[in-house]
Amino acid sequence: MLLLSLASFLSLGFASTQLVLRPENSDGFRVFQGKQSDHSIRIRRQDESICAAGSAQYTGWLDIGPKHLFFWYFESQNEPASDPLTLWLTGGPGGSSMLGLFEEIGPCLVNEHGNGTKYNPWGWSRNSSMLFVDQPVDVGFSYQDEGYDLPGDSPTAAVDMHRFLQLFVSEVFPQHLNNPFHISGESFAGKYIPALGSQIIRQNKLYPHQPQVPLKSCLVGNGYMSPKDVAFGYWETLCTTNPGVTEPIFNKTRCDIMAANMPRCMEVMDICIKNPDPAICNAAMTVCIDGVIGWYDNESAYKGGRNRFDITRPCEYEDICYIEAARVQTYLNTPAVWQALSPPKHIKHFNITSDSISRAFEKTSDLETSTDDEVIYLLQNGVHYLAYQGRLDLACNTAGNLRWANSLIWKGQPEFSAKPLQPWKSVVSATGKSETVGTMKEVWVRTSDTSETDVRFAIVTVNGAGHMVPQDRPDVGLDLMTRWINGSPFV
Ligand SMILES: *[C@@H]1O[C@H](CO)[C@@H](O)[C@H](O)[C@H]1NC(C)=O
Ligand SMILES: *[C@@H]1O[C@H](CO)[C@@H](O)[C@H](O)[C@H]1NC(C)=O
Ligand SMILES: *[C@@H]1O[C@H](CO)[C@@H](O)[C@H](O)[C@H]1NC(C)=O
Ligand SMILES: *[C@@H]1O[C@H](CO)[C@@H](O)[C@H](O)[C@H]1NC(C)=O
Ligand SMILES: *[C@@H]1O[C@H](CO)[C@@H](O)[C@H](O)[C@H]1NC(C)=O
Repeated sequence: MLLLSLASFLSLGFASTQLVLRPENSDGFRVFQGKQSDHSIRIRRQDESICAAGSAQYTGWLDIGPKHLFFWYFESQNEPASDPLTLWLTGGPGGSSMLGLFEEIGPCLVNEHGNGTKYNPWGWSRNSSMLFVDQPVDVGFSYQDEGYDLPGDSPTAAVDMHRFLQLFVSEVFPQHLNNPFHISGESFAGKYIPALGSQIIRQNKLYPHQPQVPLKSCLVGNGYMSPKDVAFGYWETLCTTNPGVTEPIFNKTRCDIMAANMPRCMEVMDICIKNPDPAICNAAMTVCIDGVIGWYDNESAYKGGRNRFDITRPCEYEDICYIEAARVQTYLNTPAVWQALSPPKHIKHFNITSDSISRAFEKTSDLETSTDDEVIYLLQNGVHYLAYQGRLDLACNTAGNLRWANSLIWKGQPEFSAKPLQPWKSVVSATGKSETVGTMKEVWVRTSDTSETDVRFAIVTVNGAGHMVPQDRPDVGLDLMTRWINGSPFV
């Protein structure tokens, strides 16, 4: 295991760029500031006491005018100097990426008491450095100075995230300028990720002499790429055995009502997509909620109710449903964590979700519109795209995302939509045997005459997993992630 110290990065950073470097402040933070920009990163090293990570870890904030974005960075446990960098974004809107870190893919997971962590052998920092960011501002440990509007859509959030990444890979950990960069995430990150990915590509093209963020791929777990298709997928998920259940969840009475209401839901969502005014889109979504989605969701999102993230499990805790989320919040509010991270005095409490960010997004049409244009732009620019899907999820269901993937209008569509899903296998830790764990299909397509490589577009499903694949099947989740970032086949 090669552990590069921050000191070695400091000298690298100093040599390769015109870095303005101030020494470590009395509060233990080092500050990196790009010469041509008004933003800076303050960073401090952390030890294993707050996260049993098995590699070097750092926390801090990007300060950009009134905005302050919190991050937690882990070096790869394999070859930190040459392994890729992968960003993780939890969804929401308003969900803290600490959820993904401490409940799913981090090198440490919160323990059952919510007072410490344990090493996660299936953490995604095994073969990639991992960066978790609380975004947009006001989520988790991120904050904004008073008197400014909060971001209300994914493109606005992407502007800040691009600036963050540009500074991070060029000044703070400059080896990542030359290593592949991947964006991963889940749920509403199905909107954040295409917006951020296309922002990165556009900025790289517009400013070729500025530091380039070397984006190579996106991998999105149960993503909300297309709210319309997700609504359509409610019927198949609840009224058939296709998710991998023995009996449909709903009876014929309810399924008939939902089916009868589906055409109008689809029609009004099309109007919203063509005319994305918030008033039109919010009204369209209300039609879908009243006619289709509400039949399940109205009985969910409270302790003892139905679980939108796994149709086979009850809801354990508030609208997130998983008790682990409560433990993460408890843990991140302990004095030991608070002291290690040192959030500013005026922050009093860590919240796993930000209500003010969800409210800001409700005022725009970002919760209803699709990401088709951005995903197509990414594919045309050679950025690989993976949608992986836990089959038991309803909130961002597999039926809907398969429909979305088949109907995405690009050069790869004819071949992709013509292909059947095929089973794929993974070595399952419980048995040590290679077993069928889901289905997949993919295409490799040359999208431009100038490109020398094919772009990969894939959908991969995971049996017996809900919305949070790495929580439900951690071994399969890590295998899936490593194969994808290495460009390895599934079948
Ligand atoms: C992943 O990392 C492990 C060590 O943690 C190493 O043995 C293995 O070769 C790496 N795999 C790849 C594909 O880089
Ligand atoms: C965590 O809580 C458990 C159960 O209350 C206790 O046994 C353990 O000592 C606690 N650990 C720490 C680090 O406080
Ligand atoms: C169908 O399911 C709903 C909700 O669980 C229930 O209220 C209703 O009685 C069921 N109808 C039939 C015909 O079983
Ligand atoms: C779900 O609840 C909302 C708000 O109370 C209501 O407007 C809607 O009609 C309900 N939908 C169904 C299908 O019960
Ligand atoms: C956290 O959530 C509570 C309500 O659950 C709210 O009163 C409080 O203002 C929130 N804190 C922050 C820092 O957002």
